[in-house]
Amino acid sequence: MAYLLGVDVGTSGTKALLIDEGGTVVARAVSEYPLYTPKPLWAEQEPADWWRATCESIREVLGRAGVSGEEVKGVGLSGQMHGSVFLDEANEVIRPAILWCDQRTAAECWWITETVGRERIVELTSNPVLTGFQAGKIIWLRNNEPEAHARVRKVLLPKDYIRYLLTGEYATEVSDASGTSLFNVCKRQWADEVLDAISIPREWMPKVYESPEVTGRVTAQAAAATGLKEGTPVVGGGGDQAAGAVGNGIVETGVVSVSVGTSGVVFAFADEPVVDPGLRTHTFCHAVPGKWHVMGVMLSAGGSLRWWRDTFGTEEKTVAAAMGVDPYELITAEAAQAPLGTEGLIFLPYLTGERTPHADPHARGVFFGVTLRSDRAHFARAILEGVAFGLRDSFEILREMRLPITQVRASGGGARSGVWRQILADVSGYDHVTINVDEGPAFGVALLAGVGTGVWKSVPEACHATIEVVSNTPTNAEAHEAYQPYYALYRKLYAHLKADFAEVAGLME
Ligand code: XUL
Repeated sequence: MAYLLGVDVGTSGTKALLIDEGGTVVARAVSEYPLYTPKPLWAEQEPADWWRATCESIREVLGRAGVSGEEVKGVGLSGQMHGSVFLDEANEVIRPAILWCDQRTAAECWWITETVGRERIVELTSNPVLTGFQAGKIIWLRNNEPEAHARVRKVLLPKDYIRYLLTGEYATEVSDASGTSLFNVCKRQWADEVLDAISIPREWMPKVYESPEVTGRVTAQAAAATGLKEGTPVVGGGGDQAAGAVGNGIVETGVVSVSVGTSGVVFAFADEPVVDPGLRTHTFCHAVPGKWHVMGVMLSAGGSLRWWRDTFGTEEKTVAAAMGVDPYELITAEAAQAPLGTEGLIFLPYLTGERTPHADPHARGVFFGVTLRSDRAHFARAILEGVAFGLRDSFEILREMRLPITQVRASGGGARSGVWRQILADVSGYDHVTINVDEGPAFGVALLAGVGTGVWKSVPEACHATIEVVSNTPTNAEAHEAYQPYYALYRKLYAHLKADFAEVAGLME
């Protein structure tokens, strides 16, 4: 029997997932690591931690499945997007990696935009230059740590650093490269004009592949560290969103996913690189060769509920531990007790700023409309509804862009709650279906490894062979109607508070 391995280098840990050639999940293993915030708005990790976690999780998943490295036909890599790993001449990591959720580069992003030209940068990269993306981080290093910058010879995305250690190759693939502000998303190649304009040497960038292509083979040294066989092919894989979308079967027009993890993402397949004129969504290359995707990214979706659980949910945590259930079950059951619209208590879920639709690093979380009647159930429900309103913003943009939405597939920890799924379906006006596998990006890249090694002929074929819809949460038309005025109010609140968010950010500086 042959197996396929998907490895996802996430923000909280690395997950290794083993599937068989029929797409059945055989075993999974996760190894965690810390995230460092040396200053407010900064977010860094040690690439050495990712490598340790990769080796650990691969060894563990093979051990659990009782599968030898010889039986693994191919490996796919996924990971947190946008981060920067800086390597010197000896391929040593120069400083901790700067991550996707780091907000330090506002000045650099402004400078890149002005230097390349506001319209030109969008023509070339299909996106605005955002603080999370890679380009700003390289310019930040030049401006703030010139000695470190002088040593740089290569800049890699997180999963591509792991690829380098596994295969010895400097390589990336189109979906992750799309989130750098240095990549021509239409042409699927590095944007030389941008690199030249902001003086980033072309040779610092890795070679680009399509996601299912073989980018290298496991070296003898990596084989010894992981338990894989020397020579095992490693395919391009994908940034975590594109990879997760493959794992959800988002490989044809009309099928859209909504995933509620720490962040919340609405992801649509696109035949062409269409760009939102308001630049509120991202247009990136898909992990399906020659195709693209458009996605809206909220920064704190499940993250908002986690914040509530960890800050105010001590009681739920204690009761849940005694009952042997997950505290989220109790919190969402409590939320279900409050009425639709929570008597006017509205939550703006901007706990870590926001990308879609506002691209505003200064935005903050807000509870609006608190009264003496507001209790724990109201607050919990307001969070579930506020996140649903934020995701609806992305659906509205897709509709404005005339991207068809024929089916919505819900995934991620948040969407496992029936209460939350119903609210998502009612607020958006779309039925939310679920599928048979909810393993996230690691499953998507295991499928890509199968395509790259000939198990399936194409990415859509791999998805059709392994993924099926198993449940449906229909939208309730009456509830959808009842939510309209609350959603309208939600939208107005940000507009009213925008300047105040900037002012409070100024106070904190
Ligand atoms: C996508 C994004 C996140 C990160 C971390 O644009 O920023 O999905 O990749 O998961």
